[in-house]
Amino acid sequence: MTTHACITGIGSYLPERILTNRDLEAMVDTSEEWIVARTGIRERRMVAEGEATSHLAVRAAEHALADAGVQPSGIDLLVLGTSSPDMIFPATACLVQEALGMTCPAYDVNAACSGFVFALHAGVTAIESGRASRVLVIGADALTRHIDFADRTTCVLFGDGAGAVVLEASDEPGVLGIVLGSDGSGAGLLKIPAGGSARPVTPGGARDASRFVQMNGNEVFRFAVNAIPTATLEALEASGHSIDDLAWLVPHQANQRILNTVEQRLGIPPERVFSHVETTGNTSAASIPLALDDLYTSGRIASGDLVALVGFGAGLTWGAAVVRWTKPRSTEEN
Ligand code: ACO
Repeated sequence: MTTHACITGIGSYLPERILTNRDLEAMVDTSEEWIVARTGIRERRMVAEGEATSHLAVRAAEHALADAGVQPSGIDLLVLGTSSPDMIFPATACLVQEALGMTCPAYDVNAACSGFVFALHAGVTAIESGRASRVLVIGADALTRHIDFADRTTCVLFGDGAGAVVLEASDEPGVLGIVLGSDGSGAGLLKIPAGGSARPVTPGGARDASRFVQMNGNEVFRFAVNAIPTATLEALEASGHSIDDLAWLVPHQANQRILNTVEQRLGIPPERVFSHVETTGNTSAASIPLALDDLYTSGRIASGDLVALVGFGAGLTWGAAVVRWTKPRSTEEN
């Protein structure tokens, strides 16, 4: 009998501090009107002093484990997608493992904003091959730590957060089709040039622009509006389904204008394309599980629904997963 990977638990966490467009108006030459019109974002969350990616990841993981009814000791693999690890090493996954009292193998995946779909692929592969039966998959980022808050072209876009799912082996299909892609020829379009071995951060190198997120926004936009439809259709084909079968398309939450263009290109009604970018901004690897958890906790997704999760980001990278939702509808009361 074929072993499938099912999502049996989901959880997310947003840091408490809210950064509004009005707050940004006081920091750079921008306006609430420009940000809303060009991105759809009104506010985003930001880590507090002393808070790091691992702290967000631990909170999301605790919620997902409780939702699945699984003890940390019951997990046999932890994969964490992030491009803003607490440190270059050890892996943030190891810090999360220690905080949760787990003993399983734990490692990070860096695929930027596609990080969750890449981490999900690793978890699904481990389960389908029989090498693991319960995997904790986390997407977590604190990119505001790598933003130049004097650069209006990037500082309005990003926020912090974390989301997690528990995958369990099942006889019933859960994750039906999953595809990934990378194109290193676009590596220069979105990057943090310094801080690695190519360009170590040196004492005194204080406010060098190369330490912050640098992006060719127009090119990334063009890439996104092609990558999302292509990856979605490939994953649907791999799962034997079509756009009409989807209850929800859950794309990486980067910019409402990207989502509007994707709706037109795929011919999918806007009411089936999830968006809460207005209140989260672009939370990178956290974005898809945060969106999925919002759908779940607000009772808008029910057992049997077909959902497509689609990410894109630096690398360039992209990925899509078509998932049969197997959990019962959540209600506000529970
Ligand atoms: N406030 C006011 N004006 C601004 C701002 C701002 N915050 N930012 C840029 N502008 C100005 C520009 O300077 C430019 O002025 P100019 O015409 O005088 O030169 C003008 O607005 C238009 O700039 P564009 O870059 O053409 O604006 P655009 O409509 O393309 O929007 C944006 C820019 C929002 C960045 C868009 O290109 C975008 O969303 N790109 C995709 C970004 C993305 O998704 N990144 C995440 C990828 S995932 C990952 O891996 C991290």
